[in-house]
Amino acid sequence: MSSFLTLQPIGFIRTQKQVKFQARHQPAETEPERNVLELLPGCDYELALRDLAGFSRIWLIWWFHRNTGWRPQVLPPRGPAQRRGVFATRSPHRPCPLGLTPVQLIKIEGRQLILGACDLVDGTPVFDIKPYVADYDSFPDERAGWIDDVNAILAAPPQFTVQFAPLAEEQAHWLISGWQIDFRPRLFELLSRDPSPHKTRRIRPRRNTPHFEIGCGAWRAIFAVEENKVKVLEIEPGYPRRFLVDPAREGMPDAAAQLAFLEFWPERA
Ligand SMILES: C[S@@+](CC[C@H](N)C(=O)[O-])C[C@H]1O[C@@H](n2cnc3c(N)ncnc32)[C@H](O)[C@@H]1O
Repeated sequence: MSSFLTLQPIGFIRTQKQVKFQARHQPAETEPERNVLELLPGCDYELALRDLAGFSRIWLIWWFHRNTGWRPQVLPPRGPAQRRGVFATRSPHRPCPLGLTPVQLIKIEGRQLILGACDLVDGTPVFDIKPYVADYDSFPDERAGWIDDVNAILAAPPQFTVQFAPLAEEQAHWLISGWQIDFRPRLFELLSRDPSPHKTRRIRPRRNTPHFEIGCGAWRAIFAVEENKVKVLEIEPGYPRRFLVDPAREGMPDAAAQLAFLEFWPERA
């Protein structure tokens, strides 16, 4: 018997998330979202979908196809900066790069499944669908190891206050009013807990300065820390202008907003 398994996708997901940082670590069930899983033609999948419509939630088993390689220990995005064994996490960097996501099934139209919130990027290959059955799949009273400990830490009041300097305030307001881009909730959530450098939270020292920067989607916020006060000093696009105007890089997230931002607040050399 061979110990290898060759998998072929049954279909591909269509979502609004083009790049990995746009997808949540787990589906954001509170945000309205509509995603489509398109199953491949010519495989009798219409028949295979029979009787699924009565389930309001399904499991997707899918491929972290944008990743290569894996690490035995990874740095989870939540909680203290502590590496955990990959099998004790939902990290996308695993020896067998399979993702598992419960999604809301809104309706089925032919070979298309209309789904609610998901954490897959656009074009992700999906290998299997299974019905979610609360009786089999839900055990809310089980222990969740280090995640329970992290939840207990996060339940405590935040240790840092977060303020915006006038320039950052003006830039944040410009982004919200003109482009409906608002990452202040993410800044408050992360920086009020722990503004120290953290790879997965995309926080790092700002080169040649005493400050730090945090990646927020396609943007960066620069901040200073003094005792238990965090001051957001300014915001900047995450990509240089030359990338944003490069036709080979078409479809970069928030590209138009970033170019318009650079008209107002030009890049420094
Ligand atoms: C933390 S994983 C959890 C996935 C799944 N819910 C699980 O528990 O197996 C979710 C992250 O995977 C990343 N991701 C989504 N689609 C991907 C893909 N096709 N290839 C690589 N990474 C992907 C996104 O950055 C997303 O935030």
